[in-house]
Amino acid sequence: MKGRFLPLLAFVVGSSALYISHGLVEDMKALLWPFQQPLQSCQNTPTSRSCWDQYDIDTNYYTTFPDTGNTVEVWLSAEESICNQDGYERSCMTFNGTMPGPPIIANWGDDLVIHVTNNMHSNGTTVHWHGVRQLDSIQYDGVPGVTQCPIRPGETLTYRYKVTQYGTSWYHSHISLQYSEGLFGPLIFNGPATADYDEDLGALFLQDWSHLPTFSAWRDKEKYGITQSLSNLLINGANTFDCSAVSDESCVGGGKKSQTVFQPGKKYLIRLINVATDSQFQFSIDGHKLKVIANDFVPIQPYDTDSVVINAAQRYDVIVEASAPPGDYWLRAFWVNACAGVANDHPEDSIGIVRYDAASTSDPTSVSAVKAPTTCFDEPLESLVPHMKFDVTNIAGTTVEELRVRFTHEALFTWTVNSSSLVLDWSNPTLKRVFNNESVFPTEYNIVSVDKKTSSDDEWAVLVIQNKVMGLLGAIAHPIHLHGHDFWVLAQESGPWDGRTDSFKTINPPRRDTAVLPAQGHLAIALRLDNPGTWILHCHIAWHASQGLSLEFVESEESISIQSGDMEILQDTCESWDEWSGNATYPQDGSGI
Ligand code: C2O
Repeated sequence: MKGRFLPLLAFVVGSSALYISHGLVEDMKALLWPFQQPLQSCQNTPTSRSCWDQYDIDTNYYTTFPDTGNTVEVWLSAEESICNQDGYERSCMTFNGTMPGPPIIANWGDDLVIHVTNNMHSNGTTVHWHGVRQLDSIQYDGVPGVTQCPIRPGETLTYRYKVTQYGTSWYHSHISLQYSEGLFGPLIFNGPATADYDEDLGALFLQDWSHLPTFSAWRDKEKYGITQSLSNLLINGANTFDCSAVSDESCVGGGKKSQTVFQPGKKYLIRLINVATDSQFQFSIDGHKLKVIANDFVPIQPYDTDSVVINAAQRYDVIVEASAPPGDYWLRAFWVNACAGVANDHPEDSIGIVRYDAASTSDPTSVSAVKAPTTCFDEPLESLVPHMKFDVTNIAGTTVEELRVRFTHEALFTWTVNSSSLVLDWSNPTLKRVFNNESVFPTEYNIVSVDKKTSSDDEWAVLVIQNKVMGLLGAIAHPIHLHGHDFWVLAQESGPWDGRTDSFKTINPPRRDTAVLPAQGHLAIALRLDNPGTWILHCHIAWHASQGLSLEFVESEESISIQSGDMEILQDTCESWDEWSGNATYPQDGSGI
């Protein structure tokens, strides 16, 4: 982090010069000479997006990042609200009264301080910053039962961490199904990019939406593993809904489609984020090409395409050039049937509008040339080539897990990973257990311990997950997300794994934090052992996580550490939670996440 020292040295030289002889100053200058080379600084402009002052798109952001000295402070209030996203009013949960919640925007190298107040009455909450590595700040990863106890109603927890990555993500509650009820928002870190654009249009959320509050739908889901179809699909929290077909007082009307205005010739950056409970999308804009420049928080070599398939919790940064004949165009997020998510009453209606004339009010008449995928995969792995190359060279060990399903003694439906379905205790997070030196973790915490064999940071642990689920449920693909790391995707195949590792792609494979485990197939990922902590891995289909489809890595346990002040906060949150939760209306139900 060269940039950090330079201003400091300049200051020392400047002030000392007032008190010491000229000769000595010259001597000191000679001594400091290597550091006084003019800084190579390059501004990030529409024609130089790869620049970022003294840093750029080639900087290894896993080890090197700016220190801006700037703190971005944000206040989030988790609230019980009434939402009308599409013309149908229902109770929901929001941050600061809106769904999506307020955007959190920071620069690469800033510090974030986020005060989360739980203003809900009968639920605890936590906030997770999806995809953030939380290097040296494991205690703020926001997972109940893993890194913290829930924040009880009426209390505030302040999350603090450094922005070491850049790109697009989202923050969301990590308790049970709360994010499906509306507790999420954009998390955007400005930084360099692998292709130029004129204007950043910010986050574009793709989402499914139930008119029945999700916690009611959950009861069926928990019993039978299936649930009734969801009501609608939303783009940036908005859509229309035809109330003429429903005799329901809550259908008050007033829904709108999300709209964007293009200026001819301009290039726009759109940050796609799938925040669905259980839906995958194929995104496209009629008449326009997309240039994909990042997957999750990882810049990739740009590629051009007509559409992008985006699985739950994934992000793609795309550049769209306003090069079509001026007019009105549909922007589409086709609901991908092949992923076999929960059905939707309006799978065709996930559309927004791109206009070249802000005054136009007519519906587009454009048609789509995009073909729906017949299988549920990520974008082709050959397309997702990380800009900053990393090979997986040195494998410390391989863990193999089998995904299956099981009914519990109470006849509740669960997913199992190597025969064990995750159940956490909100009052006793793994991180607390680590600091209490508990030598054995509970079986249902699904702990996989991974340790380094050498002192090098270039060492990986490999996880192979095999989808062994049979029957109808075997047709489902699962977007697998890991906390605290980007992982390297070594294999993503339909069909069983043959037990061999020599076919794994280890030379600069795709790198991201969420990837699909195909139906009856397998997914092999590698995580670099450079971030000691307690990191959960789970399916990001909200129900599946609550039904236990998850495991936890305890990485380099001996090296996990937090500051004493943070330790106190961890303990206080737990004490306070225990005091309150004894009489809670809704006790913990399901896995806890
Ligand atoms: Cu989007 Cu466990 O997180």
